[in-house]
Amino acid sequence: MGQVNLKKENGICTLSINRPEALNALSREIVDEIDDYLEEIKNDDALRCLIIYSKDNFAAGADIKNMIDCDKKSAKEFSFSPIYNKIADLKIPTIAAIEGYALGGGLELALTADIRIADENSKMGFPEVTLGIFPGAGGTIRAPRIIGEAFAKELIFTGKIISAERAYEIGLVNLVASKNNVFEEAYKMATRISKNGPVAVRMAKDTIRQGLDEKDQNKAIDIEFEKWAELFETEDQKEGMTAFFEKRKPKYKNK
Ligand code: CAA
Repeated sequence: MGQVNLKKENGICTLSINRPEALNALSREIVDEIDDYLEEIKNDDALRCLIIYSKDNFAAGADIKNMIDCDKKSAKEFSFSPIYNKIADLKIPTIAAIEGYALGGGLELALTADIRIADENSKMGFPEVTLGIFPGAGGTIRAPRIIGEAFAKELIFTGKIISAERAYEIGLVNLVASKNNVFEEAYKMATRISKNGPVAVRMAKDTIRQGLDEKDQNKAIDIEFEKWAELFETEDQKEGMTAFFEKRKPKYKNK
């Protein structure tokens, strides 16, 4: 225990990995610790945003030592997918703040987030094919949805490591932060998000996800139509619009 930390401040929580000697490579124990914290995050109504940030290196992938002797059965047991899905399913917005390497299962962890911000010196990629495997923690599924099929295939088939600038060009990251400023940029964005109507933000996340999962565009629009109308039954909608006319900042109750 003790290689993952969770810090909470002003409704923003930060999840960090602390295994510097292995560039924050993700062992089974680390991912299980993340899983324990996810329960806490899920059950804390005061939280408005999660930042995933680890000092110096986001994560240099899954721990290769843990996988080298795996067979099909133990590879399935080792897989991070069930826990990564729980991060992607969190109701609050999530931001991955990437410093150093985000490779393989590390980049897949970043892909579970809603928004990615990268330090200008960070490096990202899917080197799995160089090890005789392919990304198996949601990478082949989430990457094409985020950056499109062609760029996802290029990264996954070549195993090449790209710069933050290139990651921005292909839409893998939302923003490139100047050196050593990535956490500050992520915190700024999280603060901005946390000031908005929390029910509206959560429902927007859910609606975007449901819309992406629905192939029929008209059905997706129907989902939006229903969810949008539901917001008019919340106290926060009344408060937000009243505050606008009273020329003051809204005091949202998360109701
Ligand atoms: N697993 C286990 N250990 C790792 C690791 C990993 N993914 N990445 C780095 N380390 C360890 C190294 O073995 C090394 O340990 P020792 O000091 O005991 O030798 C230490 O971290 C420092 O690494 P390097 O000496 O290699 O540092 P470098 O600066 O020369 O290179 C690097 C950095 C290019 C990131 C290189 O470490 C590297 O290529 N790492 C592996 C990256 C990778 O292939 N990730 C994908 C893993 S597979 C995966 O993630 C599967 C999946 O889909 C879930």
